[in-house]
Amino acid sequence: MLLNLIASLFGTLGAYALYEIFKAVYAELTSSARNLRGPKSAHWFYGNLKELLDDETSGLEERWFEQYGRTMKIHRLFGQSQLHTADTKALHHILSNNQIYQKSLAGQLTLGSVVGPGILVVEGDVHKQQNPAFGAPQVRELTSIFVDTSMQLRDIWAAQAAMSAGGVARVEILSWLSKATLDIIGLAGFNYRINALGTESHEEPDELAEAFETVFAASTGSGVFNMLKFLLPAIHYIPTRGDKIVREAQETMLRIGKKLLAAAKGEAAENGTFSTGHGRDLLTLLVRANTSKEIPESQRLSDEAVIAQVPTFLVAGHETTSTAVTWALFALTQNIPAQTRLRKELLTIETENPTMEELNSLPYFECVVKETHRLYPPVAALNRMAIRDDIVPVGTPVIDTDGTVHESLRVRKGDQFRIPISAVNRDAEIWGPDAMEFVPERWEAATPISNAIPGIWGNQLTFLGSSRGCIGFRFSLVETKALLFTLIRGFEFELAVPIEEIGKKGNAIVQRPIVLGDRAAGNQLPLLVRPIVGSEFKDVEAL
Ligand code: HEM
Ligand SMILES: *[C@@H]1O[C@H](CO)[C@@H](O)[C@H](O)[C@H]1NC(C)=O
Ligand SMILES: *[C@@H]1O[C@H](CO)[C@@H](O)[C@H](O)[C@H]1NC(C)=O
Repeated sequence: MLLNLIASLFGTLGAYALYEIFKAVYAELTSSARNLRGPKSAHWFYGNLKELLDDETSGLEERWFEQYGRTMKIHRLFGQSQLHTADTKALHHILSNNQIYQKSLAGQLTLGSVVGPGILVVEGDVHKQQNPAFGAPQVRELTSIFVDTSMQLRDIWAAQAAMSAGGVARVEILSWLSKATLDIIGLAGFNYRINALGTESHEEPDELAEAFETVFAASTGSGVFNMLKFLLPAIHYIPTRGDKIVREAQETMLRIGKKLLAAAKGEAAENGTFSTGHGRDLLTLLVRANTSKEIPESQRLSDEAVIAQVPTFLVAGHETTSTAVTWALFALTQNIPAQTRLRKELLTIETENPTMEELNSLPYFECVVKETHRLYPPVAALNRMAIRDDIVPVGTPVIDTDGTVHESLRVRKGDQFRIPISAVNRDAEIWGPDAMEFVPERWEAATPISNAIPGIWGNQLTFLGSSRGCIGFRFSLVETKALLFTLIRGFEFELAVPIEEIGKKGNAIVQRPIVLGDRAAGNQLPLLVRPIVGSEFKDVEAL
């Protein structure tokens, strides 16, 4: 009896695997990528994916585009073809037709296991309903949360410096920035005090942060099993050893999420408005928007959908922003004149509690932030899958392996695209020969550098484009500026290891620095942090 059950289970699994294999072979045989030029598959299982993940010094994709043209093919798992284009006309088409080009099912399931049915993973009509309040008025109200947390971090580093030899601290800034953005998203996202910076006494690590870490780590590791999930979506439903722990963590998140939703409903019902400081967090804004008379009953958000925003905001809004700030400080250690010029400009604001308008009023600051996001986009690439046949217009004709020239690209249902955010942001054809260098001054030119890139912000692809771009970009930019404003006014920064030691390594979401001689430590960025004492503030004016 049991044996029969096991046999039929394996039979079913085998049939399923065969079905997926046939589907993949068929897709491969009919794929429009088949005849395109591109690099050879580097590995029977990983294709080119491992090379891309391991590309620590960067420049691999850029070289491929030079060698094989603006539109080419690379290999995914088991060598399956994937379209890969830096052609801005093609990208514009793909990003603005998001009813055709969607996140693949496997991608949705991977993220879905972390965030539930939140806005990151839903497609189509469901997505249209989920449009939380991320506008400038909302972000303005959140600015004091960004600044307060930035000052807490500044004070921690100042205390570390005071205790260090010579008054200069060696700080691993990535982990500290990550704690700061976690605290910020907790407070600004759902009025929840995570206290990752540890400025309030708590005996235990925060329950929500811990549960989130567990679920996130389990579903985004780059192990073979997680990679296979992308190939065989049903693997998501196979229980694994870690599952009990993960399930418990999910239950913890759900329990806290329910409590947060109840609190948000209380806030929303109370008569408080933003101006009283009540209910300005994103969750309360969502609940309040849901009560608006303009929204038809059918489009109201379910409680489940709002609870799913908690992990969604954690995934989308935490490591992304800390990564951006980390790269900004790194870039400024490699360009001391820019660091000095920026500090001087920041010190023209007379308060250490700037408003959103003040943060947005400084032209060189804007250039530095744009240049950082261009050169170091935290999300380096994304995938999209065509859910039906299509024809993609291209700016540069596509030449296939036979030498035939195509004026457009024929796409078959099931074809996958890699959206090379980083490679487009660093494309020498668009940005010129110094594309790989950090040059904030390029943004001072009167005319925009490139209108060609279909991005929602900053003439770049960093926050993606069209209606499926990052909805948190304003939030993120003001948060980034608050952190940089406070930290650069407070300290001088210098790289603590030789520049040759700095590499880059990605996980499922972001690309962050590593120290090549200390890979075991994982992502990190050690800087020397030197407090600027009061008297030096005046000297800066004389520069
Ligand atoms: C430097 C920081 C950030 C970067 C580079 C970034 C980038 C992106 C990108 C590329 C996407 C598109 C993902 C996809 O289509 O697969 C996205 C989506 C999203 N981001 Fe961000 N993001 C950042 C910060 C934030 C913050 C701070 C929040 C929230 C507070 C946020 C919330 C979201 C949400 C909710 C989505 C899903 C939107 C949708 O699917 O319609 N992001 N982000
Ligand atoms: C808000 O409070 C005021 C007075 O306290 C009251 O007149 C008004 O009806 C309240 N509005 C709502 C929506 O409860
Ligand atoms: C949104 O409104 C509907 C109907 O008015 C209600 O059932 C639902 O609980 C609300 N959702 C949230 C998250 O407030």
